[in-house]
Amino acid sequence: MERKYWKESVIYELYTRSFKDSDGDGIGDLGGILEKIDYLEYLGVDTVWLPPIYVSPNVDHGYDVKEFRAIQPEYGTMEQFDTLLAELHRRGIKLVLDIVPNHTSIEHEWFQQAKRSKDNPYHDYFIWEPANDDGSPPSDWRTHLGRSAWTWNEQTEEYYLHLYSEKQPDLNWDNPKVRQEIYDIMRFWLEKGIDGFRIDAVNVISKDRSYPDADEDKLQAKGDEYFKNGPHIHDYLQEMNKELKKDFEFFTAGETSAVHDHDVLKYTKPEWEELDMVLSAEATELADQDEDKYKSKEWTVHDFREVLRKWQKDVGDGGGWFGLYLSHHDAPRMVSTFADDGKYRIESAKLLATLLHTLRGTPFIFQGEELGMTNYPGFDSIETIKEQEAHSYYDLKVNEQGASDAAIMERLQKKTRDHSRTPMQWDASAQAGFTTGTPWLPVNPNYKEINVQAGMDNPDSVLQFYRKLIRLRKENAIMVYGGFEIILDDHDQIFGYLRRMDNEEWVILLNMTDKDASYDIPSECVDDWDKKHCVISNYPHVDKENTLRPFEAVVYKYVK
Ligand code: GLC
Repeated sequence: MERKYWKESVIYELYTRSFKDSDGDGIGDLGGILEKIDYLEYLGVDTVWLPPIYVSPNVDHGYDVKEFRAIQPEYGTMEQFDTLLAELHRRGIKLVLDIVPNHTSIEHEWFQQAKRSKDNPYHDYFIWEPANDDGSPPSDWRTHLGRSAWTWNEQTEEYYLHLYSEKQPDLNWDNPKVRQEIYDIMRFWLEKGIDGFRIDAVNVISKDRSYPDADEDKLQAKGDEYFKNGPHIHDYLQEMNKELKKDFEFFTAGETSAVHDHDVLKYTKPEWEELDMVLSAEATELADQDEDKYKSKEWTVHDFREVLRKWQKDVGDGGGWFGLYLSHHDAPRMVSTFADDGKYRIESAKLLATLLHTLRGTPFIFQGEELGMTNYPGFDSIETIKEQEAHSYYDLKVNEQGASDAAIMERLQKKTRDHSRTPMQWDASAQAGFTTGTPWLPVNPNYKEINVQAGMDNPDSVLQFYRKLIRLRKENAIMVYGGFEIILDDHDQIFGYLRRMDNEEWVILLNMTDKDASYDIPSECVDDWDKKHCVISNYPHVDKENTLRPFEAVVYKYVK
C-alpha cells in the first residue's frame, strides 16, 4: 500500500465558533485558535480542519457561503488567518479548509444576479426548471428533511433546486464556468499555502437532470439515492484534480453520504485521481432510522461490525482510503450515542478512541471528543436550539404535519447538531474558560469536571489516553498500514480484530457493552497467545483473562 503522510495523520476538526473566543463577544474566533495553538501541539495532532470560516449569513453556520475568499468578520481577519497558517506550519501542523462546492448562500452575488432574469450571465450558475402544468415543482425530489427541494422564484417564474435549505441554492456543475469558479477559489487558498480540503457534500454535485421520480416509500423523508453519486461526478472530480494537482500538493477528504462499498472505491482508488479519502456517515448513522435521522435506532455490535468490515475491505483490498470518525459537527457527541455518558463515560470514551485509532484509515477527532465531552442536557425547547436544520425539522413536523411539540422535542433532545457545538471546555472557571462574555450556545454544566485543564492534570484522563494513542500511531506503522481481519465474528458484545504487518500482530478487543463479556481465545491467535503483551488498555490492569469488563478495550501485541 502506498505510503502517504495524510494516511499517517491524525486530523482534528476544530469548530471555530465554539473553540475559543478571544474578544468577549461569545463567539469563538481565529484569535482564540491562536491563543490555544499550544494545546494542539500538546495533543499531538498533525492536521487541523476548519469548517467554513468564510463570510456567511450563518443560516447554516458557514455552510451557506456569501463570499468564498473572505473571512467572516466575527471570526477575525485575513491577516489573522495568515498568521494562524504560519504559526501552525511553524509547529509542523497542517491546515485543511472546508470547501462548499455544491451550493452557495442565497445572498451570494452569483445568486443575487442569477435570480433576476433568465438572460443574466449568472443565471446558469444555478439549477432552474419550469413548473409542471399544474404549477407543481418539476420533480418530487426532497431535501434530507423531507421538504420539497424546489423553491419558486417569482422574477423568472421558475423553480430553483436546493438539496439543503432554500437559502442554499445548488450550483450547476454542468456549467463549465461554475466548475472553473470553484477551482479558482480552491487555487486562492492553495496559493496561501493550505494543505488540503475537506469537500462538503461532494457526492451530490452532479445531478441527473431528468430528475427521476423517487418511489414514494423512499421519499418519506428523502430522495437522496436519486441525486447522490450522479452521472458526471467522477468526471468532475478527475477534472478538479487535473486542474489543481499539477500546481499544488494537497489532499482532499470528501464528505460522501450514501456511498456504498463500490462507490467508495471509485472515489478513492489512487489511479482514478479523485478524492484521497472519503468521510462516510454510515457508522454515525447506525443510531438513526433510515427514513428520519431524528428518530433514534437501537444499534448492535453486529451492525458496527458489518459497516466496519465493508470499510476495511475497501481500504485494504481496493487501495481506497477512509477518514475514521464517530463524531463531528453534524452529530451529537459520540460518547452519548455510541457508549455511556454516565457511569462508564471515561472507559467508554477511551474505548471509542481505541476503535478509531486502530482501524485502517485516518482518524478524525472532533474538538472536545478527546475530553469525553457529552451531549448537553438543556435542549428542552426549540428556542434553546440554534442550528437551522433542527428548526426546519420542528417546523415541518409540528407546524405543518401536526406532531406534538413533546414528541419532536424528545427526538431533538437526543439528535440536534448543537450537542457537538457547545463551547469547548477549557477549565473550571466561568463559561469553562471559553469566553469572558455570554457564549453563543450554553456551556455544558459538566464543565467543572470535564475540561482540558482537568485532563492535563490527571494521568488517567481521556485526554491523556488520546495523546497516548496518537503517539502510538506515529510510532507503529502497523496501525496505519497493517492488514485487517475480523475475529470473534459472531460475538454479541465484543468487536475484535487483528492488524498484521511483517512478523507483528496486534489483537484489538473492544467490549462495546456495559456488561462483562467473555470470549474464547480466537483460533487465529492460539499459538502465540502466551507471548502477547498489552500495548494499551482503558482499565488500569488487564487481569481477567478471557473476560472483558464493561467497555473494556485492550490492544495486545505479539511478535512472531
Ligand atoms: C454538510 C455539512 C453540514 C451542512 C451541509 C450543507 O453535511 O457537514 O454541516 O449543513 O453539508 O452544507
